[in-house]
Amino acid sequence: MNDRLIIFDTTLRDGEQSPGASMTKDEKLRIAKALEKMRVDIIEAGFPVASEGDFEAVKAVAELITDSTVCGLARALDKDIDRAAEALKSARSSRIHTFLATSPIHMREKLRMEPDQVVAQAMHSVKRARNYTNNVEFSPEDAGRSEFDFLCRVIEAVIDAGATTINIPDTVGYNLPQFFGDLVGRLIDNIPNADKAVFSVHCHNDLGLAVGNSLAAVLHGARQVECTINGLGERAGNAALEEVVMAVRTRRDIFSCDTTLDTTQIMHCSRLVSTITGFPVQPNKAIVGANAFAHEAGIHQDGVLKSRKTYEIMRAEDVGCNANRMILGKHSGRNAFRTRLEDLGIKFDNEADLNATFARFKALADKKHEIFDDDLQALVSDAIQEGADEWIKFISLKANIETGKAPKAEITFFIDGVKKQASAEGSGPVDATFKAIESLVKSGCNLQLYSVNNITTGTDSQGEVTVRVDKNGRIVNGLGADTDIVTASAKAYINALNKVFSERERAHPQV
Ligand code: KIV
Ligand code: ZN
Repeated sequence: MNDRLIIFDTTLRDGEQSPGASMTKDEKLRIAKALEKMRVDIIEAGFPVASEGDFEAVKAVAELITDSTVCGLARALDKDIDRAAEALKSARSSRIHTFLATSPIHMREKLRMEPDQVVAQAMHSVKRARNYTNNVEFSPEDAGRSEFDFLCRVIEAVIDAGATTINIPDTVGYNLPQFFGDLVGRLIDNIPNADKAVFSVHCHNDLGLAVGNSLAAVLHGARQVECTINGLGERAGNAALEEVVMAVRTRRDIFSCDTTLDTTQIMHCSRLVSTITGFPVQPNKAIVGANAFAHEAGIHQDGVLKSRKTYEIMRAEDVGCNANRMILGKHSGRNAFRTRLEDLGIKFDNEADLNATFARFKALADKKHEIFDDDLQALVSDAIQEGADEWIKFISLKANIETGKAPKAEITFFIDGVKKQASAEGSGPVDATFKAIESLVKSGCNLQLYSVNNITTGTDSQGEVTVRVDKNGRIVNGLGADTDIVTASAKAYINALNKVFSERERAHPQV
């Protein structure tokens, strides 16, 4: 390997900006731990000034993570930078990432600032951040539509002010690989102090080119890529980490750099992010889709049987794909359970939590004989959600269906600690369940999405239900898993309602 390519993961920040992908602090901690285990270099944990919840999450990630650098985002404003520094205080290694728009349209229409003011404010912010840490990243937002000479001027100034990483964002996903690569190469060649900083890229996927643009920039000298698991992110998303990393690794003949990632953790991280956000991975998604390593055509199968290299450019096991390996069953003990969860990056704070989750595992193993890693992930997600301080807590559900009769559901739950019961009829058992819940909660939410996926295969598989609701423009996802999909649906709907009515108001970094 000639050179190191730094992987900067922004699943917890830009990824969380996907409508409906908001995560709780505990969920962020689980993802951060998995990213650390995968040896991601930098974890952008959030935007601390956005809300108390964001601040607390970044602080908690900073306290937990020891092997990756933890980064907080800040607009080029004193209060943002101070807040980010405060959240990152206890990190073993921290970075402040500050940004200011440099494109004519953003400066004129959004910032209402003159170019000279932008240069001065960018320099001031980088200097302020340097008072807290010597690891400061600056992003000229909308660099992909900025004027080249002005971009050079801003970047030279912020490097002089102390920025150690310069990130070139294609904020609106407007660029094409050949031109974007060329832009990064020209910046590196033309800025006199370019050798004093690492050049990075942050590409959005509006034209489906985020990975292509990122890789083109790497070929022209970028040595950090900002990306997210499963390509999660604002609008059409960011460059998918797994695609960038595997492209560079698979085409070592072309790239003169590589990452130090443990790629065998990729599949686990992908599943975890998908489970937590409720954003399913499309089956034909590169690297992590269910079909990514499946050969259907007879001629392909024949070739693979003779030599895997005929149709495989990567090995499934290199990305941690060993399809639903059975690991535990109803005779497995507490120790085996704990060890397997630890392998998956899940640790319990105390024995009581472990015991409670083990009891759930036993109940599941009674219903379903083979327990796979994906079952365990869903089980732990469910346990964490139900353990949280929730407004509504699911207790039990009775649903009746009989051909020719109206389906009926009767649900029992706690609202604000008070036990309630409600029943309703509907066009099916799920519809009846949601109506029963609404008859008491009267949330005023609009249901935007209801989807069921089986976590593993077979009719005894757990169903994982995702519910997306919208209340006054605030979109949240709810998740629930159970071998009974009506129960999973009730849990998912309740989970969404708990999120809608949590006090978590966020500011958006680009506003
Ligand atoms: O897309 C963007 O420009 C960003 C910046 C904050 C880097 O997310
Ligand atoms: Zn972005």
